Amino acid sequence: MERPRVLVTRRWPEEVERQLAEWFDVSFNDGDIVLGKAELSAAMGEYDVICPTVTDRLDAEVIGAGDRVKLIANYGVGFEHIDVAAAKARGIAVTNTPGVLTDATADIALTLLLMAARRAGEGEREVRAGKWTGWRPTHKLGSSLNGKTLGLVGFGRIGIATARRAHHGFGMKIAYYGRREALPDVARELGAQFYPKLRDLLAASDFVSLHIPGGVETHGLISADALAAMKPGSYLVNTARGGVIDHAALAEALRSGHLAGAGLDVYPAEPKVPEELLDLENVVLLPHLGSATREARIAMGERALANMLALAEGRPLPDRIV
Ligand code: DGY
Repeated sequence: MERPRVLVTRRWPEEVERQLAEWFDVSFNDGDIVLGKAELSAAMGEYDVICPTVTDRLDAEVIGAGDRVKLIANYGVGFEHIDVAAAKARGIAVTNTPGVLTDATADIALTLLLMAARRAGEGEREVRAGKWTGWRPTHKLGSSLNGKTLGLVGFGRIGIATARRAHHGFGMKIAYYGRREALPDVARELGAQFYPKLRDLLAASDFVSLHIPGGVETHGLISADALAAMKPGSYLVNTARGGVIDHAALAEALRSGHLAGAGLDVYPAEPKVPEELLDLENVVLLPHLGSATREARIAMGERALANMLALAEGRPLPDRIV
């Protein structure tokens, strides 16, 4: 029997590329260069499975461009770059890789919290520029996390994992806003206070960390008004998706000192970083490193593979979105 044809749009860790090649007739993107719309469109008629990442835009036009693909096995948990309604309408299954990048992403949220609070980016730049003049009692004073309130916008797997680290590791108080209240044992473990209104959470938090999916529903949620509702001198961290923040308004809030700092791992039009942020000292800018551990990236590939094998063997897809 012919092996299903699979397109992997970007390089994966070699351990999982090897596993994939054992099962499928796979095309890898040797140059690891983002595929264009024309290439993705053509692939819809040439492959049985496409494995895209956050850097591939599979809109309705691309999805409608061919009729061979049966599964879009996304390499990542966020899937707003895929028009899942268009896929569903054409009977194409879409899966993602939940669970396996929770810890890695929560670690990056804490990295950003600490870097912003302790002015680590500023300090590093100072040292590298040869401008450090030595220890002094008032040099680069930041904020402690201990006893401060961390407000989580979105309290799913990654939000909870971030809260656990912040509460048990750094003595932070936990507050959250989400679609529903957390399970009682989670709320009890973290002493987490639920805020049904986003503005109330923002006004009550010393640090705010975003853990909501991207897409039309959350686009611009952290608007100029939302930023104005944040406590003066507070901090904002984003490891979710760039589109949830109005970055011009964020830059203004950082410039004016209304916010003491921010830490960002994601941007609306990656790899472009909003120009207005680049000159600001009080923002930490990372290049979408949330899931970038070897362990997580291998597990993401294995999770995508599990979905492909399920399709090939006619079993229910473990991580089916549509
Ligand atoms: C995810 O899994 O959504 C990460 O942001 C990488 O795409």
